[in-house]
This record gives sequence, C-alpha cells and structure tokens, in this order.
Amino acid sequence: MSLLVSVIGAGAMGSGIAQVAASNDSAVTIVDSSPQALENSQSKLKSILNRLVEKRKINKEESQHIISNINWSSEMNEISNSNLVIEAIVENMEIKQILFSQMESLVSDDCILATNTSSLSVAGIASVCNNPSRIMGIHFFNPAPLMKLVEVIPTNETDGDLLKEVKSILEGWGKTVVTAKDTPGFIVNRVARPFYGEALKIYEEGIADFATVDWAMKKFGGFRMGPFELMDYIGNDVNYSATKAVYDGTNHDPRYKPSATQKKLMDEGLLGRKSGKGYFDYSENAVNPEPQKNEELGRKIFKRILAMLINAAVDALNESIATRDDIDTAMKTGVNYPKGLLKWADEIGLNSQVAQLKELHSKFEDDRYIANPLLIKKVEENGTFY
Ligand code: NAI
Repeated sequence: MSLLVSVIGAGAMGSGIAQVAASNDSAVTIVDSSPQALENSQSKLKSILNRLVEKRKINKEESQHIISNINWSSEMNEISNSNLVIEAIVENMEIKQILFSQMESLVSDDCILATNTSSLSVAGIASVCNNPSRIMGIHFFNPAPLMKLVEVIPTNETDGDLLKEVKSILEGWGKTVVTAKDTPGFIVNRVARPFYGEALKIYEEGIADFATVDWAMKKFGGFRMGPFELMDYIGNDVNYSATKAVYDGTNHDPRYKPSATQKKLMDEGLLGRKSGKGYFDYSENAVNPEPQKNEELGRKIFKRILAMLINAAVDALNESIATRDDIDTAMKTGVNYPKGLLKWADEIGLNSQVAQLKELHSKFEDDRYIANPLLIKKVEENGTFY
C-alpha cells in the first residue's frame, strides 16, 4: 500500500514537498486555507512537470501519474487517513500550534506529524499536543524537489523508532538525511551565518565592495556563488530574519550578530532579485561594478570568511547540534559548499585557523572572533577532526 502523505500549506515549500512525495508514489493531499494558493500550486506544478517532460527528464505518463497522486483541498478533514503529515504554513509559532492541535484531533494515533519550520522551536510547536512523541521537524530546502538535503529534528520527546521510520521514508524519496538538534537554524542555517555576516563586516570596514568579496569567495574558495549574490538570491528579508533567529536563539552570541547594512537594505525594500535591486541591480541594462581582482586582497577575504565558517562548524559540533559527518554533509548538500568545513579545517591546519581568529580578535577586540574552545582543545592535543 502506498504511503498517505498530507502537506499543509500550498506555498513554495508545501508544493515542492508534495511533488517529491508524489513522484515517489505516495498519495498526497495538499491542504491550504487559501483557494488561490491551491490554484497557484496546481498550475505551477503542472508547468514544472511539463518542463520536465520537454527536457525528457520524465515522460508524459509519469507526469500524469504524479499529478494523479495529488489531491488539492481546502478541507482539513481530508488528512484523517494520513500516515505522515508535513506542515509548511506561515512561519508563526501561535498559528502553527493551533494547526498542530487541530491535526492531532483529526489523524489516527500512529500518524507522524512533522513541521517544515526553518527557525521556530519544534518542541515549542509540539508542546500543545497530547502526544509529542510522534512530532518532529522535517526541514526541506528550497526548491524541495532539487535540493537533496533534508534535516530531521527530533525533540527530547520524539520516539526514536518514528525518527528512523521518517529517515527511511526520506531516503526512499532520494534525499540525503542528516539529524539536527532542535536549536535555531538547525545545522545549515546556523553554520552558514558567517558566510553572510563576515562578508557584510568586510564591506562595512571598507576593505572591499560586494563584487570583490563575491569574486574572492568563488575564485579562492570554489564557492558557486558569492555571499552578496546569494543574499540577493535568497532575499535580504529572509536572510536577515534567519540571522536574527539564530542570534536571538543563541542568547545574542556575537558570532551571529545581524548586520546594520543588511537591515537598512531590507527596510528600504532592497530585497534582492525579487525586488529588482539589492546589493546589485537586476534591472534591464543595469551596469554593476566589476570586482577589484587583487589576488592578495582576495585571498585575505576568503581566508577570513572561511575561518569564521569553520569556527561556526566547530561551535555546532561542540554544542552537539549534529555529528561531524552530518555537519559536513549538510553544508556540502544543503548549500553546495565545495568541501565539508571540518574536513577543510583539517586540510588547512587547525593551528592556522586559531592564529587567524586570534589575529582578528586582537585587531578588532570583538568577541565574534573568539576561537571555539573545541578548536583550541584540538590544537593543544595536536588533533584533527577526522
Ligand atoms: P508560503 O508563504 O509560500 O506558503 C505558506 C502557505 O500556507 C500559504 O499558501 C498560506 O495560504 C498557507 N497557510 C497559512 N496559514 C495556514 C493555515 N492555518 N492552514 C492552511 N494553510 C495555511 O511559505 P513557504 O515559503 O512555502 O514556507 C512555508 C514554511 O516552510 C515556513 O514554516 C517556512 O519557514 C518553511 N521553510 C521555508 C523555506 C523557504 O526557502 N521558503 C525553506 C525551508 C523551510
């Protein structure tokens, strides 16, 4: 018998998750309170599948089969026979809690309930339910059908067997699954913060402009996109709130401090690609500045941002947010980093990482540059992460 999956929320994420499940032979019900959202979701999926047929990635029958596996509905009652419900509605604790209470009252006792939240506490959402043992986070990345990584987030109450079951369902859907602690940003959205934050700081110090920082990270680090073009792609509003959620959730750890430059852009509506302008101008015929291709400067920028990324990865390991392997896999698969950060740290040498952070700390007297105790311990022991 095929798995009965319900997805609540027919926005970008809900529709993508539904496509993944339906493409893997699950019967899917997508529920949304907005009829317009349901209509958009359906027509968008049809055009995505048509494109896949044109590109010969799937054939016409497969496309029809995927569509026939999905039922778009505005009736919450339709989730009642589900084996698994994934919530992907608006990012608001109170609204999610109300929905989870309602979900719990509709489904059978053995149905697994999951949230796709990016920044809220999974335990907080589960706290309103009578049986929190069947609740967990299943965090997909956008666009869900293309991004292989999924973070699963158990709470202290989540049943271990159900967690295993969910991992095997997701792996069956072709996903790479990592397990993260229920903390703000989980793995990827936490460890990636310095990619943006340190780039912004370098710009604020007048060391280099946006184009030069992007060039340095691509040229010397092998990153597919530079921090500023990536922030413009993600949206400065979305990226800023992700930083703020991690900063607030870590008791204002200076490492994750949001940038005033980014806030200003957000407040001015300079959100990036979606608004036509952010760090760069996306309007027709716009001329954007060329990078200043000074290799010595470029290497310095890359080394500084990488040292901060590595420190964040070590911090995640030190806080038991995930295992060494899951941290490295998550960054390679979730944000396409060219290497796992802990592996990269070993390759460069932990000594030089600590030296770089110490230099920045004494120069700026800013606690964001304090080397993580685990990194220092490894250096003292002459150790490595692998
Ligand atoms: P969205 O705004 O595109 O879609 C949300 C949908 O939920 C809307 O269609 C809305 O009508 C519907 N909705 C709101 N309240 C509802 C309710 N009470 N009952 C039924 N439907 C309701 O949002 P998006 O981007 O798809 O995000 C959804 C969730 O996924 C959020 O929790 C977000 O943090 C998370 N997420 C988003 C990612 C992204 O890149 N956009 C990545 C990973 C997770």
